[in-house]
Amino acid sequence: LPPHDDLVIHNIRQLITSEPDLFNASDDAGRPLGIIEDACVAVSDGIIKWAGRQSDFDDSAFRDAGRIDAAGHVVLPGLVDAHTHAVFAGTREREYEMRVLGTAYMDIARQGGGINATVSAVRQASVDDLVSTGLKRLDAMVRKGTTTAEIKSGYGLSVEHEIKMLEAMRRLKEEAEVEVIPTFLGAHEFPPEYKDRRDRYVDIVCDEMIPAVAERRLAEFCDVFCEKGVFTASQSRRILSKGKDYGLKPKIHADEFAESGAALVAAEVGAVSAGHLGFASRVGLEAMREAGTVAVLLPGVSVGLGKLEFADARLMLDMGLDVAVATDFNPGSSMVDSLLVISSLACSFMKMTPAEVLLAMTKKAARAVSREAAIGSITAGKQADLVLFSIPDFRYIPYHFGGDMVRAVIKKGRVVFNRDAQEAS
Ligand code: NIG
Ligand code: FE
Repeated sequence: LPPHDDLVIHNIRQLITSEPDLFNASDDAGRPLGIIEDACVAVSDGIIKWAGRQSDFDDSAFRDAGRIDAAGHVVLPGLVDAHTHAVFAGTREREYEMRVLGTAYMDIARQGGGINATVSAVRQASVDDLVSTGLKRLDAMVRKGTTTAEIKSGYGLSVEHEIKMLEAMRRLKEEAEVEVIPTFLGAHEFPPEYKDRRDRYVDIVCDEMIPAVAERRLAEFCDVFCEKGVFTASQSRRILSKGKDYGLKPKIHADEFAESGAALVAAEVGAVSAGHLGFASRVGLEAMREAGTVAVLLPGVSVGLGKLEFADARLMLDMGLDVAVATDFNPGSSMVDSLLVISSLACSFMKMTPAEVLLAMTKKAARAVSREAAIGSITAGKQADLVLFSIPDFRYIPYHFGGDMVRAVIKKGRVVFNRDAQEAS
């Protein structure tokens, strides 16, 4: 696949546009995905110029363009991973073994493991360390079709180390093929030195960390782990409001292990997204719908924690909430970098349809990171982030769990992964 400024991708059997208005196909299940059959896409200067039926394409402006033959396969918008913790140091496979043997995640945390185990490793790491491991992880993600990833800090838990994590992300933004969206998560856990002075730590997050992060323009969002035993609803409200005062858009980890009013806080502060929601109350979900907060469901956590419990995706979809699905890629509860694997979990265990899941990883996920104007769908004017799959039908993605099916990835009009070239070399 040649590098070209102008590109035409032709011979696409199913173009998944994620724009329902563009639907132009025989398969009605693809309506929400806006499937166009026998399609082609034209790209120039990193932007999609045209997408539609190949027979309707006027190629006069694209005579000199590079051509990619999709070989009768499926093309999707670049996948958006709307919730990750992909910058970290050290790993926690022993905790995984402890959980297999019967100790709960929150009990491991109380015994000195958990988030604070990664905090000690991150505090010892340099920015260079975090960048080099982060780059490897992002490279693994792009090969699985992810072209944008939100990444949270939250393993530093002091002004110095939170800024260090966000500075690593700033470098990853420059160096990685995956587009990085940084979120400040100073309120991920209480660090050991503030274990018995929790309100003091909240003061530091509000009065020192948020201003320092905002002044350096290191993050776009502010997130909080609002959960029984971690940050309370009122502490979360305070932190997210302070973040808003400093231009950081609110996000929240909500009601993962128990109902703690977090979904209501999400709605109250106008959170862009709320993650987890396994135990969110009905009123909380209704408030989120009214506030336009996107529900980000993270079924990888159920695998990482070994529980057959999932958020009630069907209820949320039927209520009319916007639902995104993401990896929550992190070294504790969800050591998974593949949205493709997650798609299988979302279908099999949360009973989302393949079409709902693919929409949840493209258009809805783009909304969850406030990027709906630029990415998440294939239509003229959007950034040219595309994934070419060597599969016969979109349903194949969740169906073939863990399958190696990404043939090429295009980011801003540039081929950033090409399996054929790798096989040839
Ligand atoms: O997703 N939400 C709880 N769990 C954390 C996982 C982080 C970790 O264990 O390292 C999270 O934010
Ligand atoms: Fe998380």
